[in-house]
Amino acid sequence: MRVLVADIGGTHVKLMHSGGPEARKFDSGDGFTPAQVVAGINAHTADWQYDVVTLGIPSPVLRGKVMEEPWNLGKGWVDFDWAAALGKPVKILNDAAMQALGSDEGGRMLFLGLGSGLGTALVDDGRVVPLELAHLPFKDQTFEDLLGQRGLKALGEDRWRAVVLEGAELLRAAVAAEYIVICGGNVRLFDQLPPRMRRGGNDKAFEGGFRAWDAAESIVAGGSPLRSLAAFAPREPLRDLFAQDPDRARRFFVAVGKHLFIDYSKNLVTDDSMRALVELARKTGVETLRDRMFAGDPINSTEHRAVMHVALRNRSARPMPVNGRDVMPDVNAALDHIRAFAEAVRHGKWLGYTGLRITDVVNIGIGGSDLGPAMAVDALRPYTLDGPRVHFVSNVDGNHLADTLRTLHPATTLFTIASKTFTTQETMANARSARAWFLSRAKDEAAIAKHFVAISTNAREVTAFGIAAENMFVFWDWVGGRYSLWSSIGLPIALAVGYGHFEQLLDGAHEMDEHFRTAPIEQNAPMLLGLLGVWYASVLGAESHAVLPYEQHLQRLPAFLQQLEMESNGKRVDRDGKPVESHTSPVVWGEPGTNGQHAFFQLLHQGTRLISADFLVGIHSHDGLPDHHRLLVANCIAQTEALMRGKTEAEARAELEAQGLSGAALTQLVPHKVFPGNRPSTTIVYRKLGPRTLGMLLALYEHRVFTMGAVWNINSFDQWGVELGKQLAKTIEGDLGGTRPAAGHDASTNRLIDLARERE
Ligand code: F6P
Repeated sequence: MRVLVADIGGTHVKLMHSGGPEARKFDSGDGFTPAQVVAGINAHTADWQYDVVTLGIPSPVLRGKVMEEPWNLGKGWVDFDWAAALGKPVKILNDAAMQALGSDEGGRMLFLGLGSGLGTALVDDGRVVPLELAHLPFKDQTFEDLLGQRGLKALGEDRWRAVVLEGAELLRAAVAAEYIVICGGNVRLFDQLPPRMRRGGNDKAFEGGFRAWDAAESIVAGGSPLRSLAAFAPREPLRDLFAQDPDRARRFFVAVGKHLFIDYSKNLVTDDSMRALVELARKTGVETLRDRMFAGDPINSTEHRAVMHVALRNRSARPMPVNGRDVMPDVNAALDHIRAFAEAVRHGKWLGYTGLRITDVVNIGIGGSDLGPAMAVDALRPYTLDGPRVHFVSNVDGNHLADTLRTLHPATTLFTIASKTFTTQETMANARSARAWFLSRAKDEAAIAKHFVAISTNAREVTAFGIAAENMFVFWDWVGGRYSLWSSIGLPIALAVGYGHFEQLLDGAHEMDEHFRTAPIEQNAPMLLGLLGVWYASVLGAESHAVLPYEQHLQRLPAFLQQLEMESNGKRVDRDGKPVESHTSPVVWGEPGTNGQHAFFQLLHQGTRLISADFLVGIHSHDGLPDHHRLLVANCIAQTEALMRGKTEAEARAELEAQGLSGAALTQLVPHKVFPGNRPSTTIVYRKLGPRTLGMLLALYEHRVFTMGAVWNINSFDQWGVELGKQLAKTIEGDLGGTRPAAGHDASTNRLIDLARERE
């Protein structure tokens, strides 16, 4: 939830929102009305996004209602309908109460604002208790007479200080507060304060405005913990946070083993934000759900299935139970099958029907039965040189298959038909066409056994297709499609890079699993990345997340992650079927650097949207070419620095002046040369992209997705959203083959069907 805070004072209205550190203000003054405040807010926040508003008003406020007209502004404040005028939920606080809430450090606190008058408020365990103590009698006058500006003038500084301390202690005892915070312009006159009294920052009003929603939510039992997080957004730009805190890059950094390093210091977070996110993970039971996953509980609740891809790469001797039965013997048998077959093909022991070696493998599958292996084979290209060429066909668009087969020969081509269900329309259509292509040359059904193997959980459909049981590589319903590259679905990887490298991939994933299973949240890399994902999607309102590998071999990683994240967490109801309270999965997209720099990075640097980004880069490369890798790494690091720092107007101006520009030309160009900066990124650094590192990286992302789904309380392991289109496609396929004009749909759909049949 994004909050706008307006701190309404006698001379200015100051504004800030959850989306960024920049504060704005406009003039107020004598006679100022609520309608003018609304107009000012609308005029000054047109480019800000927020869901709710907090107003701090210099007047007594009870249960969110203004009780008296403010003495230093105009009329019409009592009974004004702020929510209707602003079109958003609004919380109203007394201005001192808002500042008090921002200064709160827990317990029961009395707040005294020492300005021209005396502001008072009590905050009890995060909840504001309205108080108007200023007009109570004190030494024959009132507290305000003596503690306010008039008292200072009348008493002189020394006596005034003593009277303030005496009065404050009286008030503290009266309201049974544990400590006092004093604030306001005259606080500067105190050098030292007694115990139980401390100085508050005059800038705390905004903090209180954000926390107003936090406090409200924590009072309403069952309120979403996510809603309260906006209060923990940094109020200063990253550039300043780095300048103030030389230790920041060291603290916001996590290493997993000796190969993977994550710098998350360039994210829009402070220590407070990270503490709040870690607390969020605790409150929402991320660790419990993780433990249930590793224990084989059926956490895929709509399909009543365990989620056990971690068993596929369990390299320890630990049993992995599903429904009380250890699945490791089955997993190891399936791995043996992959090993034996991959080695036979790669070493020329498995030959085609004419006795020739297999030179090309075509994997036919889609979604999880394609993206994982296709991405991994690309990622491990330097390890593929001594194996068969492996191609991937997924699209039902016949061009994909036709283009792939054009240069291949049936006698030396092996097809791996990969489908968990073995009913997926696209895969089956491609598999049938591949078989027809093969038989048109081989002319012998018996030859199929040498050239077609199946990877599936569905033995019945595999046999019905004509593939013998011994040529079927199995996996199980507790492996989700998008989590399946570690299973028999990884056969094309083993064929391409060899079983030894495939095992190293599993080793790397297992190392990450162990880290995810055992590291405390504060140092748990996937959990931290997941929490940052929630932070941007649900709290700061980012719509999308960019994945930017500075590694050509990871060019298919963004596509793989699109399925992993968006199919897992693109959900609108929680595990109980109730609508979720915030946005879930962001749109995931990306391209390898440096290509992206010359395409869409303009928008990242100077566009209007908040986009979180992951930069991935290796310390070493396989390229063997002089200088290229240094250029690549320099670009990667430079982009993260540029996004974070930006370039201020003054810097842009100075730069242009140094180039000799002046006058109108200078003024005109400056705004175009400004980079707002403060744009977040995470940098994931690995030593060198090999199978083990790849396994770690992919498991890192899997568990990031897990963490996000757990916080949102959604089922990350089903995908009902893909079904409707599949259903309708079947009907429309029938319509396309029919002879009568299409009539069973809306006008647009009917017309498109007729157009496709060339009936229009
Ligand atoms: O349509 C979505 C989906 O079910 C994915 O979840 C899955 O990875 C893909 O289709 C392929 O499914 P299968 O492996 O059963 O062919």
